[in-house]
Amino acid sequence: MDPDECDQPIYTNVRMPFKKEPPEVPTENPTGLYRYTLKHSGSQRQKVILVLEGVENCCFVHCNGKVIGFNKDSRLPGEFDLSPHLMPGDNLIALKVMRYSDTSFIEDQDQWWHAGVHRPIRISRRPTVYLQDIYAKSDFDPQSQSADLSVLIKLHDASRSTIGHQVEVELYEQASSKNLTPKLIGSVQRSQFYPVTGRGPEIDLKRTLKRVKAWSSEHPHLYELIVTLRNPQGKILEVGKLRIGFRRIEIKDRALLINDQAVLIRGVNRHDHSDQTGKVIDEALMRKDIETMKQHNINAVRTSHYPNASRFLELCDEYGLYVIDEANLEAHHHYAQLGRDPYWAAGFLTRAVRMVERDKNHASIISWSLGNETGFGPNQLAMAAWIRAYDPTRPIHNENAICEQGVSRDWNANAAGSDFVCPMYPTVADIIDHARNSQDPRPLIMCEFAHAMGNSCGNLSEYWEAIENYHGLQGGFIWEWIDHGIRASADGVPYWAYGGDFGETIHDLNFVCDGLCWPDRTPHSSLLEYKKVIQPITVTRVRGLTFEVTNKQNFSSLASYRVSWTYLVDGEALGTQVFRLPKTLPQSSQRFVLKIPETYQRQPGEHSIVFEFTQKQTTAWCKAGHVVAWDQIHLKRIPYPKGPRNSAGEQSVLVTSQSEKVTVNRGALNIAFNREGLCHLSVRGVPLILTPPELNIWRAPIDNDGIKGWTGQQNKALDRWRAQGIFDAGVIQSVPKLVSNQRNEAIIDHHLSLTTAAGSVDCHTRYLLKKTGGLLVEHCFDIPESLTDLPRIGVRYGLAPVLENLSWFGRGPHETYADRKQSGRLMRHQSSVSDQYVPYILPQDHGNLTDVRWLRLNDGADLQFCVVGEAPFEASASHYKKEDLLAAFHTYEVIPDPSVWLNLDVNQRGVGGASCGPDTLPAYRLGSGTFKLKYTIDCGA
Ligand code: GAL
Ligand code: MG
Repeated sequence: MDPDECDQPIYTNVRMPFKKEPPEVPTENPTGLYRYTLKHSGSQRQKVILVLEGVENCCFVHCNGKVIGFNKDSRLPGEFDLSPHLMPGDNLIALKVMRYSDTSFIEDQDQWWHAGVHRPIRISRRPTVYLQDIYAKSDFDPQSQSADLSVLIKLHDASRSTIGHQVEVELYEQASSKNLTPKLIGSVQRSQFYPVTGRGPEIDLKRTLKRVKAWSSEHPHLYELIVTLRNPQGKILEVGKLRIGFRRIEIKDRALLINDQAVLIRGVNRHDHSDQTGKVIDEALMRKDIETMKQHNINAVRTSHYPNASRFLELCDEYGLYVIDEANLEAHHHYAQLGRDPYWAAGFLTRAVRMVERDKNHASIISWSLGNETGFGPNQLAMAAWIRAYDPTRPIHNENAICEQGVSRDWNANAAGSDFVCPMYPTVADIIDHARNSQDPRPLIMCEFAHAMGNSCGNLSEYWEAIENYHGLQGGFIWEWIDHGIRASADGVPYWAYGGDFGETIHDLNFVCDGLCWPDRTPHSSLLEYKKVIQPITVTRVRGLTFEVTNKQNFSSLASYRVSWTYLVDGEALGTQVFRLPKTLPQSSQRFVLKIPETYQRQPGEHSIVFEFTQKQTTAWCKAGHVVAWDQIHLKRIPYPKGPRNSAGEQSVLVTSQSEKVTVNRGALNIAFNREGLCHLSVRGVPLILTPPELNIWRAPIDNDGIKGWTGQQNKALDRWRAQGIFDAGVIQSVPKLVSNQRNEAIIDHHLSLTTAAGSVDCHTRYLLKKTGGLLVEHCFDIPESLTDLPRIGVRYGLAPVLENLSWFGRGPHETYADRKQSGRLMRHQSSVSDQYVPYILPQDHGNLTDVRWLRLNDGADLQFCVVGEAPFEASASHYKKEDLLAAFHTYEVIPDPSVWLNLDVNQRGVGGASCGPDTLPAYRLGSGTFKLKYTIDCGA
């Protein structure tokens, strides 16, 4: 995106980008001028229609120097009849597009302000009588599989000249020429123009269809509806085509039913955004969005907070996604004001009417949404009433009715304004409480939850467990799909820019980067977690080798999946086998028993089994072999037999202690301790430890700890940690104490403590080296009452750069955190230290590994640093130092360090969702008290 060729992007969340009160806008209003020369034959027998699909914010249309029209609503089309203004030959069509108008106050979404023409412009030539509108309504009966179809056709123009014009409607199965109906035929009658009773030039055709195929996200069957318009002499004037689908949407007994099924909404909120072209997005990117969503088990989209591009909705029909289509309406800065102000009533209503007019024929749209964060009042009730009367087939979604004027928490109020209870960012406890105690007959679907900003989306599994277990809770939409970074470069280094990077003075920094994917749609680990948690098939263990598979799909059996098991011992696969499951209908479970070779089952170690469900066939959105669901089940642990004592590898342990230093040598291994602790470890003369293990109680803050660049974050963990002084705690070191000094072992004690403004953290470490084996390390941490809820408790080593290769037995392959680890498979993984870096747009903690049994760093040959835990621990290895990440605001500001920074933690605080929503659950925070971390460092010497 060339900043010289487009409007300056400005990012604000709540605030208006200028200081004026509604309806005043700045007099300096950036304006874009666009020109086009249109050739015209001069024929009067044609209408020439100009369609602007999306222009931000408002636009005057000029034809040959004369203003002929004006459009507002940046996300809906404006249509202009150019015909009366055209002259034979060249005609100058000009657009004057202005960044701000009064409607900027109701287009105050949390997004880039980026004015201009961002959707296609079309010029169509049409006969003087033409098909102005086709409204295909249907009611599908899932029991009998029949559908009542009604097609309402409106002709343009509205005069008596339409009398005698005929329309024919045909319905075809997609991809076949099978005509489903005999032609439905109708024509405009003279009586339609009688005073009082005449309905004007519209034709309503109806037919009941037997045995139609239902549309759902699982099976998006579409039909092609063809409407032919003929003049009274029978000549074809125009042919209109639509793709329609048959399904029934109802709300009954606290459930949203789609074809009689209470489908769980596994949703995301989506904006139209490209990191290269801003709000201009092409079809390839829309397909990429949808395919990536489907590949991650997402079945629903809320088009936050405006109707997304039309083509996107057509693709949702085609691929199968349930859509909540939202009106382009948000008055966040004036939240408590505009929803009740009569001045705005007509503007509100128009946004609903025009959205429904544009989008009513989409099978994918299951509900109309009245906008976001605009306050609740008569203006919205007018929208709801109009939609309910015009399209009774779809329920109304309205976040404003739940949150009211930005403060109310009474979800059960204002039921007339929303058919859903659709709160944003409730806690898990809140929704369970609602399910248990409220009598509200509406289903609860969270319009936004799990704010996916940076390293985020903790406790998704708790949300999903509640949703699956409580009737009345039916899913939600994660905020949000992608990070809305804009591709930029800093001295040739590419990065993703956010608020403030374009010289804006009023802006909200990186709050625009809060998605499940990077701007190029590469999934964050949070998306992998969502995929796992919402997967439509699960396996649990009944007993022994008897398992139960549950098919959570609503309309499909498991026939399209290839199912396999893999048997693992100590994280290593012993064998994999494809097998057949009993037939499992949608929404049902079946038990099955496996036969596993005895040889596998007798091995010592930790046993688990992984079930995997992959697509047998390539589909529109995935390749054959794509993994849809998997489960890993711990089976048992068989202890290793105690081997006979082997004295072959024994070597004497030689200890020297002088003043404040202790050195220990054993064969090729040399170790030394000083006041800093384990200050030296080398093998055959090659030093592996460069920085002694430091007592490590903080992480480079993630966005959920607190928004680093914002003020006013006093209620966030980050501000508390700053106030406690944990980022620059003073270190107190002790002299290493030689506890045992014999030829067969050395024991050294060392003590570190950190003094913060809120008390000190102690760490007593005991090192033990015996004649054989590795160096046993035992840290004992004491956390005072005054310092509960630290980011982490552990140690950090600075290791030699040669230790670049990484492998571990723990969860992976991607980063996992205590409250976001369901998507990690517990097995052996391989990576490199460089690949552990996760370049979050705002640099922050990354690459954590959970449930680690052991972790090995090596140089690709025989140098290694292997940590074997006595109990599972957390760890991460990166070239990016937390100090550098803490100081940085963009990826280009952080430079990798040659050293390998290895963190070993008892625990790290979960990631939670507090950048906008509930904080990390108490279960994933660290308390005060005593914690132990015990492991052996094995360097193979
Ligand atoms: C919600 C809002 C979204 C977005 C989100 C924070 O309150 O509806 O548009 O601002 O918070 O990222
Ligand atoms: Mg907002």
